[in-house]
Amino acid sequence: MPSTSTGALGPTIAIATCPEARPVDEDAPLLLAALAARGATASEQDWTDRDVQWGGFDLVVVRSTWDYASRRDEFVAWSRRVGAVTRLANPAPVITWNTDKHYLLDLASDGVPTVPTSFLDPTPDADRAGAAAWVAATAAPDTGFVVKPAVSAGARDTFRHAAPDIDPSSIDRAAEHAIAILRSGRSAMLQPYLDTVDDEGETGLVFFAGRFSHAFRKGALLRVDAGTVDGLFAPEDITPREPTDEQLVVAAGALDAARRRTGSELLYARVDLLVEPTGRSVVLELELTEPSFFLHTDADAAGRAAAAIVTAATSA
Ligand SMILES: Nc1ncnc2c1ncn2[C@@H]1O[C@H](COP(=O)(O)OP(=O)(O)O)[C@@H](O)[C@H]1O
Ligand SMILES: [Mg+2]
Repeated sequence: MPSTSTGALGPTIAIATCPEARPVDEDAPLLLAALAARGATASEQDWTDRDVQWGGFDLVVVRSTWDYASRRDEFVAWSRRVGAVTRLANPAPVITWNTDKHYLLDLASDGVPTVPTSFLDPTPDADRAGAAAWVAATAAPDTGFVVKPAVSAGARDTFRHAAPDIDPSSIDRAAEHAIAILRSGRSAMLQPYLDTVDDEGETGLVFFAGRFSHAFRKGALLRVDAGTVDGLFAPEDITPREPTDEQLVVAAGALDAARRRTGSELLYARVDLLVEPTGRSVVLELELTEPSFFLHTDADAAGRAAAAIVTAATSA
């Protein structure tokens, strides 16, 4: 294991990943090269590898740990263990808060525009009839809707359902899906399907050390009643995009709320926005744990990420 070193040799940095992500994480090679160019010694390490001496690194950066959704408790415990022996970014309080999408309720109550979301939490007596009653009471009859797990990444276990007025059986199918999520020990979430995503896509804004770096457009991912994702994440259509002033303001508000809620600074952040039918931008996700940065969409993004990481690794 590398020993802790600063100064002439540059900091040692662990990029936390998982075995399935290593071959498909497109940011990693760009980030490793940009870190090397700044004199840092950076290496990928699997977060589940028991042999890694995390305390030997100046900084551990959580990156493509995309397999945590089925083992969130273990992942949060890992973040606390690492945070106790070295710097972790983002820090354990952020990981704890951000790996469960109940944080959307916190953002909403802090005045950040968010996609309207209803949660159904697991209980010992959860059954299909109860789940169907929740869906029927929550989904607008004339609007398509999405059911997904509160702990999730890469659009896994995420389904789009038709408006109940158009297909009344969608309530039963959504209830069945919600029960499957509850049985996996996670809460289920229901949101209106914001169909502006079909044309405008989703906008992701990426920040390093609190400063806006770049933004991208992500094409729509869900088709009505289409199957779930087989692999680690759904294939995505990503292109560069200039954010609007409104999007920058909403994203900055989300970051401020996250800092207040967690008492932590954010080395990196990605705010994913959709557009409501009214034209208002709303937060779909605040990604503070393991977002792809899509560094290839901006020639200077890897350099900005690496500079922020090196600063964090060498700060007092
Ligand atoms: N309410 C929604 N309206 C429209 N599209 C949605 C909605 N919720 C999810 N999606 C689609 O599903 C994808 C994955 O959902 P998301 O909430 O980003 O979860 P995660 O990325 O954590 O799996 C989004 O990128 C988007 O294409
Ligand atoms: Mg997402």
